[in-house]
Order: sequence, then structure tokens, then C-alpha cells
Amino acid sequence: MARFSLVQQVHQLLARLLQPGDIAIDATVGNGHDTLFLARCVGAGGKVYGFDIQQQALDSAWQRLEQAGETGPVSLYHAGHETMRFVVPASVQGRVRAVMFNLGYLPGGDKGRTTSASTTLAALQAALGLLAPGGVISLLAYTGHPGGRDEAELVKSWSATLALDLFEVILEVPPGMESAPEWLWIRRRR
Ligand SMILES: C[S@@+](CC[C@H](N)C(=O)[O-])C[C@H]1O[C@@H](n2cnc3c(N)ncnc32)[C@H](O)[C@@H]1O
Repeated sequence: MARFSLVQQVHQLLARLLQPGDIAIDATVGNGHDTLFLARCVGAGGKVYGFDIQQQALDSAWQRLEQAGETGPVSLYHAGHETMRFVVPASVQGRVRAVMFNLGYLPGGDKGRTTSASTTLAALQAALGLLAPGGVISLLAYTGHPGGRDEAELVKSWSATLALDLFEVILEVPPGMESAPEWLWIRRRR
């Protein structure tokens, strides 16, 4: 499956789930395409927290949000997503409707600065604790760059340890395509 259509598929699913006033997290802001999408879904009465380790990414994302007139609900943090539990207000914990991860490197940026398995796993674990009942984590893993395959495999192994009475786990791995993106969807049951 092409990267573009997988991103679109994720946006379609999240657009059905997210309501005006909801709280969402973009765990990998990058150039801000997903942040903007989330901001539009939750609207002026909602909230989007975004994380990235590169100032270049945050600047690019903020510019995108400004041009679209959608900065209102968004707070961006120059911090690793593994810190999200300490950065978002305590009042938000257990109320987050969606957390998006789009792993890999910043398109147009330094391809050596990718997400890494240890911090990704720490962030996923933190995100579980923030989800509202019915809330979801969506993760796209790109396997074609150095380290991408190992990271995707560790994420899949981690997801296999989740308690299925607490979480619904869906994994989409395109068959026979070694470097194709893979998609993980985790929903907290009610
Ligand atoms: C594929 S890009 C994200 C694309 C983005 N969602 C968009 O819509 O444009 C991955 C991003 O993850 C960021 N990243 C790497 N490690 C990170 C970490 N520990 N915490 C947060 N972001 C991280 C990179 O700097 C990069 O900008």
C-alpha cells in the first residue's frame, strides 16, 4: 500500500472518531501535516499537544498552522514524545481521544535524525496512560531507512504484550513488501 493512501486511511478513521472539543496529541510533529489535521478535527474548543525534537520541524509546522489559521488549539513542545506524560497537564490524563505517531525522519530534513525504538516505546507506554476510554493510538512505521525495520519490529513485539481485555490492537503489514510502511492502531476499550 502506498504511503499516501495509508496516511489518508488513518486521517479518515481519526476524522470519524474525533469531535470538536476533543484532546489529541501529535507525537511526531514533523512538518505539521498531522498537527493541522488534528487541529481541524478538534476545533477551537479542543486541544492538540505536539512534540518534536527538532526546532526546524516545529518552525515548519507552526508556519503551516499559521497559514491555515489553525494555531488556536495547538501547543507545540521542543521535546521528545517520551516526555509527554510530564508535559501535558495532569487534567488531560485519561481524556486524550487520539495520539498520532508517524515515525522516521523529517521529510526535507536530516535523514539521520529519526525516531528511535527506545524512546518510541517509552512514548507509546506513556500514551496508553493518557487515553480516554475509546481513545486510540495510531502509529505509522516506515521500514525503508536505517533502523526503521528494527524499530517497527520492536513496536510490534511491544504491541503483542498488551492486555486484550483492555486494548483492541490492529496491525496492518502489507504482504510481500519489505520496505512498505506498517500501521498499528490501538484502541482503549471502555
Ligand atoms: C516522519 S516525521 C513526522 C511527519 C509529520 N507527522 C507530518 O505530518 O509532517 C518524524 C518526526 O519525528 C521526529 N522525532 C524523532 N524523534 C522524536 C522524539 N523522540 N520525539 C518527538 N519527535 C521525534 C523527527 O524530528 C521528525 O520530525
